[in-house]
Amino acid sequence: MRILFVGDIFARAGRTIVHERLGELQQHYGAELTVANGENAAGGFGITPQIAEELLELGIDVITTGNHVWDKREIIEYLHSANGNETSLARRVLRPANYPAGSPGFGWYQGRTRSGVEYAVIDLQGRVFMATNDDPVRVADALLKQITAKVILVDLHAEATSEKVALGWYLDGRATAIVGTHTHIPTADEMVLPKGTAYITDVGMTGPYESVIGVKKELVIDRFLSGMPARFEAASGDVRLCAVLVECDNATGRAVRIERLMVR
Ligand SMILES: [Fe+2]
Repeated sequence: MRILFVGDIFARAGRTIVHERLGELQQHYGAELTVANGENAAGGFGITPQIAEELLELGIDVITTGNHVWDKREIIEYLHSANGNETSLARRVLRPANYPAGSPGFGWYQGRTRSGVEYAVIDLQGRVFMATNDDPVRVADALLKQITAKVILVDLHAEATSEKVALGWYLDGRATAIVGTHTHIPTADEMVLPKGTAYITDVGMTGPYESVIGVKKELVIDRFLSGMPARFEAASGDVRLCAVLVECDNATGRAVRIERLMVR
């Protein structure tokens, strides 16, 4: 089957292009499973329950997040509500699996596509130049032992390219795809690793590229020049949707192809 993964949806501009283009992309590429990182979907910082559900209604099956997951307070109670409520929409919104034990919500999801193929999505956050959470490698090992689905997609939300590449090689053959998010800059290193795991260091942002990783460029330049704190606002120019399409064997979960997509 084919899996579409949409990179970091940033603010209104990102949500708008998803609204306008996702349906035709899914149809054109015959995507049976769609996953997106939505941690910056609300004004560039965090995600609200309402925005999460709007994205799910557009045909995204599972939403992953990362370090900005708690930026909008409402999401805390919403992710709590997924507990014991396996069929809720909230259960399809993930926070990184390697967050401290007892964090609200879940770091992985297992479900079935419309045609009945079992799949799992794991959300992991890196530790290099980021908060010191549990070891994503050991957490991935433990989750992969317990997940029964063959088709497994991992969102690796991390800053350092080396950490992402290393985890990709380490998990080769044990996940269908490992897709990087967080840095908002698409990388040109998509490949299928030797044991059948599709890999890319960063899918790229779905949002305004006339910006500094989504934020109005003048504000960021000013902050670099002055060293003074500034309120960041989302930009709106040159909006692009960045995604990857992964094709895999349903029976083995092995990837056969990964393709980078960028839509304006
Ligand atoms: Fe992030």
